[in-house]
Amino acid sequence: MQEKIIILDFGSQTTQLIGRRVRELNTYCEIVPYNKFPFGDPSVIGVILSGSPFSVYDEKAFKVDLSEIRGKYPVLGICYGAQFMAYVSGGSVEPAASREYGRARLTWIEQGNALFKGIDEGSQVWMSHGDTITSVPDNFKTVASTANVHNAAYQIEGEKTWGVQFHPEVFHSTDGTRLLGNFVVDICGSRQSWGAESFIETTVAALKEQLGDDKVVLGLSGGVDSSVAAVLLNKAIGKNLTCIFVDHGMLRKNEFVNVLKDYEGLGLNVIGVDASAKFFSELAGVTDPERKRKIIGKGFIDVFDEEAHKIKDVKWLAQGTIYPDCIESLSITGTTIKSHHNVGGLPEKMNLKLCEPLRLLFKDEVRAVGRQLGMPEHLITRHPFPGPGLAVRILGDITPEKVAILQNADDIFIQGLRDWGLYDKVWQAGVILLPVQSVGVMGDERTYERAVALRAVTSTDAMTADWAHLPYDFLAKVSNDIINHVRGVNRVCYDVSSKPPATIEWE
Ligand code: XMP
Repeated sequence: MQEKIIILDFGSQTTQLIGRRVRELNTYCEIVPYNKFPFGDPSVIGVILSGSPFSVYDEKAFKVDLSEIRGKYPVLGICYGAQFMAYVSGGSVEPAASREYGRARLTWIEQGNALFKGIDEGSQVWMSHGDTITSVPDNFKTVASTANVHNAAYQIEGEKTWGVQFHPEVFHSTDGTRLLGNFVVDICGSRQSWGAESFIETTVAALKEQLGDDKVVLGLSGGVDSSVAAVLLNKAIGKNLTCIFVDHGMLRKNEFVNVLKDYEGLGLNVIGVDASAKFFSELAGVTDPERKRKIIGKGFIDVFDEEAHKIKDVKWLAQGTIYPDCIESLSITGTTIKSHHNVGGLPEKMNLKLCEPLRLLFKDEVRAVGRQLGMPEHLITRHPFPGPGLAVRILGDITPEKVAILQNADDIFIQGLRDWGLYDKVWQAGVILLPVQSVGVMGDERTYERAVALRAVTSTDAMTADWAHLPYDFLAKVSNDIINHVRGVNRVCYDVSSKPPATIEWE
């Protein structure tokens, strides 16, 4: 049985980060809404309560009865989680005199507490809360303090229950992983058996069982999620898996041919469909970004559906949906937002059962599984690329000529990032073709040609992003190469906007 930690989500922005840290300890965990504890599940070995955007005394604060959890499992409350347990047991939680944000250092009130094993006094922790526990109930003992917070960490007497008002899951808590390790491994008793190898073994066996001799189709995009899902399924059911890779004409330069070759090299049964003519004709003259997206989304579904129906007796549609897409996240209003799928509308239209072999994995785990499956590194570390492709990077209407100009400029930028060792340092990069012409001079000739913008960002999840601070020498070289080699472009700009308030893509 796969033992697991349950993370009760009270709505904090760092809840997923807690999950990733636990997984890094080779321990499986699941994030569930605060009021959906899986009572009766024998594989649960411990519980973590997350932070929250609320104060415990807010009327709308998320509240839950912990009487069937505390004392039965080891429990660690983080920030709101810690304040909540103290508050409902009779402690006081009040607005902090000065809001506690940023770094602080721990001092021990109790030496040698199990949660802090191996952590030295003075260890830096990260605080981020507007409230503080001003007094704890009688049976709570304070274990650690910081300069401003007396009850920085407590344990409940006679119970394996702890609360910490800081965030061990964030990078700035220097010994945070050690603390979580003390909880997960020493206190909860994790055997640390979760990892790429064990995931592959159990998932392949489960897929064999689930799918039997059924036929499965999967849409490949060139991205890491769908590729890893395909290789995993191929390992489980071999030729009963048919992969379909649709070229809508807005892929990167040579991408269709190169990625198809990669897939064939991996032994996948893959059909490449060049549908670019259809997409170019449907997109002709369209300038509105949302309409472009809709046309491509619908066109993709039509092409995929038609190809899939050429295969006899298909029963399943496989998708590379990953865990962050499946977690029911709590919005501030307390309503839950349901999981979504990569290709909205496809399963309903095709009347197929859904198979999502990666739905338990975080992105970094998908990559680890890909590596363990022997996939080439360039497929695994590939930047994200939007489904509608270059269509949302050509501002204004789309023509094959514009796509060709953009592909050439993009190719120089991306190859440059690789040559300069910068590709893996940025989250995502690309070139935007602007609907602007500007005056230039080449030789003795006056030119009046297009401007392009380079976009490169750093990020961890695409929800927020900063523009990548690429070296000036690199930008100078790329700009020069693009203007000299891409006919029709005479000006290169660099986009220095962060997200928010801008977005990563321009459309
Ligand atoms: P934005 O532009 O919203 O992008 O900051 C966030 C991430 O999503 C990608 N993106 C898309 N992916 N279909 C996709 O599959 C789309 O329509 C789409 N729009 C944006 C974008 O490349 C970035 O990684």
